Amino acid sequence: MSNKTFYITTPIYYPSGNPHIGHCYTNVACDSIARYKRMQGYDVMFLTGTDEHAQKIEEKAAEAGVTPKQYVDDIVKIFKNLWSYMNISYDRYIRTTDDYHIESAQKIFKALYDKGHIYKGEYKGKYCVPCESYWTETQLDENGCCPECHREVTEKSEEAYFFKMSTFADRIEKLLLETDYLRPRTRAMELVNNFIKPGLEDLCVTRTTSKWGVPVPFDEKHVLYVWIDALSNYITAMGYENSAYDDYEKYWPADVHMVAKDIMRFHAIIWPAMLMALDLPLPKHLAVHGWITFNGQKMSKSLGNVIDPLVLGERYGADSIRYHIMREMALGSDSSFSNKIMIDRINSDLANDLGNLVSRTVAMVIKYFDGTLPAERESDELDKELISMAEGLRTNVDKYVDETQLNNALAEIFKVISRANKYIDETAPWVLAKDESKKARLATVLYNLLESIRISTTLLSCFMPTTMPKVWEQIGADESLITYENAGKFGVLPANVTVKKGEVLFPRLDIDKETEELNAILLKNAPAPAEDADKANLTPISDTINIEDFGKVDLRVAEVKSCEKVPKAKKLLCLQLDDGFGTRQVVSGIAKWYAPEDLVGKKIIVVANLAPAKLCGVESQGMIVAADVGEDARVIFVDKDIPNGSKLR
Ligand code: MSP
Repeated sequence: MSNKTFYITTPIYYPSGNPHIGHCYTNVACDSIARYKRMQGYDVMFLTGTDEHAQKIEEKAAEAGVTPKQYVDDIVKIFKNLWSYMNISYDRYIRTTDDYHIESAQKIFKALYDKGHIYKGEYKGKYCVPCESYWTETQLDENGCCPECHREVTEKSEEAYFFKMSTFADRIEKLLLETDYLRPRTRAMELVNNFIKPGLEDLCVTRTTSKWGVPVPFDEKHVLYVWIDALSNYITAMGYENSAYDDYEKYWPADVHMVAKDIMRFHAIIWPAMLMALDLPLPKHLAVHGWITFNGQKMSKSLGNVIDPLVLGERYGADSIRYHIMREMALGSDSSFSNKIMIDRINSDLANDLGNLVSRTVAMVIKYFDGTLPAERESDELDKELISMAEGLRTNVDKYVDETQLNNALAEIFKVISRANKYIDETAPWVLAKDESKKARLATVLYNLLESIRISTTLLSCFMPTTMPKVWEQIGADESLITYENAGKFGVLPANVTVKKGEVLFPRLDIDKETEELNAILLKNAPAPAEDADKANLTPISDTINIEDFGKVDLRVAEVKSCEKVPKAKKLLCLQLDDGFGTRQVVSGIAKWYAPEDLVGKKIIVVANLAPAKLCGVESQGMIVAADVGEDARVIFVDKDIPNGSKLR
């Protein structure tokens, strides 16, 4: 085993309901990186697990009439089943209810207390039950609700222990602004401005209202409040302060913690502060990805818009789903899930580009050479570009994997696949085949294609682990040739390689039929949305108007070119729109539900003939159309291919 180590982690998931496709992203991404690093020869530790002491789990268990432990045991099986279905090659799975973790978490708490970083006090504040968070008056949103989920908070007071985070404010600011800990770096300023500059507040780290948690070792009426318990998993799973494992020295500090943006703050501020207080080294990178959204909203059970990965996997195979979610998500941005986009992607990239390249190449070797290439070669200038792209591919993919930009890594691989398809058109093997004197040239062309396939699929196998071995069988690549080293060079397959016709790798889909069927299945399987969509909450339909009345409202499709928060107006976003006629500025009260980056590049509907008005001193030339969903507003997004300025009727 190599002495180069690589330690990568996903967040530990709440086993409070079935996992959905949004949950899959982090695990699929970490798995691909872990496989890549293993292929590079690293001794990899890939950790995932479940965060089992949440208050909502206690509530769900009570609803189901079982103990919290029984409840989580059942859901953990569902999570593990999904990970195995998606071919997640984790090396260790931590459950925060594991005895060794409880022992270590208690020792960590005690160490922090003994060092004077934790003190006992009285907590009075506004408490949000779903988020399990206390908030100060100033942190509440403009309606006096939780700043994270915008639900009501209740007044609560209790004796509690506090972690003195402020001690580490300067060091954390430096970590965020002066190092490449946080990826993407663009998020660092937002964290510093929102949480550090206003003064890092001490954090309440215990509670007395629940028994479902890790007891404070020297004061058993308190249990650890979610974050000290949960965050410490990254070291307890390695054996820090326990004897279950002995891997702490070997793997810590972690190379990459990958998380979605909603838990960035905990990993960018609280976790480093805890490690600083314990005098432990800090992880090297925190990679923050966006959400998989559905109609512009985070996919989540409470919104009733979750997509079951098993349903998709059954239809298209786990590899296609893995490919799709990784190809669509750019680090730091959200990725909007749509059945049609997914089906398009599977068809164009996997069935047409990759599947076709393999089947055409193999078919030609069989047709023109009975399946075995002759050893004679004849090169041509035409070969150079393909060979240099294929040979250079590994370096490009290395870079993107190291920067956790997996969509770009996949794009690089598919550039070579496309180039190889173009090479078939340029070299026209069917023309060469007609000329006996061109046999050596024909063999060279087909060999170059097989080599390009070998190189690209070797690298792709880390992202799509089940399908690529089928390709290797077809192109006659013995698995011993499938190595990282060989992925960096051309000419590895034997000169007289023998290919084998195999099954179709990615059957071509009829896009319209498939989209329709899939929409119907997902609709049928979707859990009931939360009560906010309950009919009883809908506002009654207004009085009838005539067509002329409606005609007075000029609704246009417009594209959001840029967007920013309106200073000193928490609710407002200021958007610059391209309405087909020019730039139009619109101010909209949707800041509570959308960040500027959720909107830029999207197409929306604007009431274009509304008299301009000033909102908090900023001129607004129109209004954006949104739907009221309970207390929330959801912007109506429209298809990208509808031109800006199109009038709605
Ligand atoms: N238990 C905490 C993490 C503690 S880590 C010390 C937690 N659990 S979670 O189950 O709610 O979420 C696990 C991960 O999945 C988080 O990174 C979360 O943001 C991510 N996702 C949940 N829904 C998601 C999408 N729709 N899209 C992408 N990621 C999503 O948070």
